[in-house]
Amino acid sequence: MTEILRANELSLRYGQQQVLREVSVTFPRPEAVAVTGPSGSGKTSLLYALSGLERGVTGSVWLLGHRLDELDADRLSDLRLHNVGFVFQSADLVPELTLRQNIALPLQLAGTSRRSVRERVEELVETLGLTQSADRRPSQVSGGQAQRCAVGRSVALRPAIVFADEPTGALDQHNRDVVLDLLLDQVRQIDGLLVAVTHDPEVASRFDRSISLTDGVITGDTDGVRLADRA
Ligand SMILES: Nc1ncnc2c1ncn2[C@@H]1O[C@H](COP(=O)(O)OP(=O)(O)OP(=O)(O)O)[C@@H](O)[C@H]1O
Ligand SMILES: [Mg+2]
Repeated sequence: MTEILRANELSLRYGQQQVLREVSVTFPRPEAVAVTGPSGSGKTSLLYALSGLERGVTGSVWLLGHRLDELDADRLSDLRLHNVGFVFQSADLVPELTLRQNIALPLQLAGTSRRSVRERVEELVETLGLTQSADRRPSQVSGGQAQRCAVGRSVALRPAIVFADEPTGALDQHNRDVVLDLLLDQVRQIDGLLVAVTHDPEVASRFDRSISLTDGVITGDTDGVRLADRA
């Protein structure tokens, strides 16, 4: 089976600041991985680098067997559309579209039939408790509603890999559990990989593995076997 994701010696600088320092990490099997670490430690930067959103990194990333820096922009977008879901820290919805249309977007880009789009979107709107707000635009909903919509959009096409940057940060306990159940169910149903940044120990405790970042370096990985492999 192709390894899901591997990063080798990823480094990233913003001006004088070294944000990632030769980070090497592998995700060989389906699992849910929590990424933790202080503010500014590089968690968002790592997710961007692993998903091909940050092209300024040095080092290499293999995603489902594809080396990302060897793909041109079109092939990278195509690989990402079909295989990668991303929940941004600030939701990042399309402002002109309603929540329902935002969730439908990846399905439509992938050429899904109208009927299947409608069924999948309604299923997600209902699961995420967005029925009342689904026809409003992002500027007309709460931060938590926008965040739930972003989660729905990320899993709409059932991608093999979902990156989620603090997907439950703006949510009350009930909605936190709804979102977490949806993300975990989705990866387990399709044997996928979830990599999610979280500051919430209760959220992290439901994951299979936890990685901690400090100042751009992985300083902890509960997958002890793999830490030993790297030594
Ligand atoms: N576009 C950018 N330009 C310059 N510096 C940046 C940029 N993005 C991030 N940084 C810097 O890189 C470092 C890591 O940022 P990153 O967003 O990865 O941290 P984080 O661990 O996700 O933090 P938080 O928990 O606050 O979201 C920070 O010091 C930040 O100021
Ligand atoms: Mg961040």
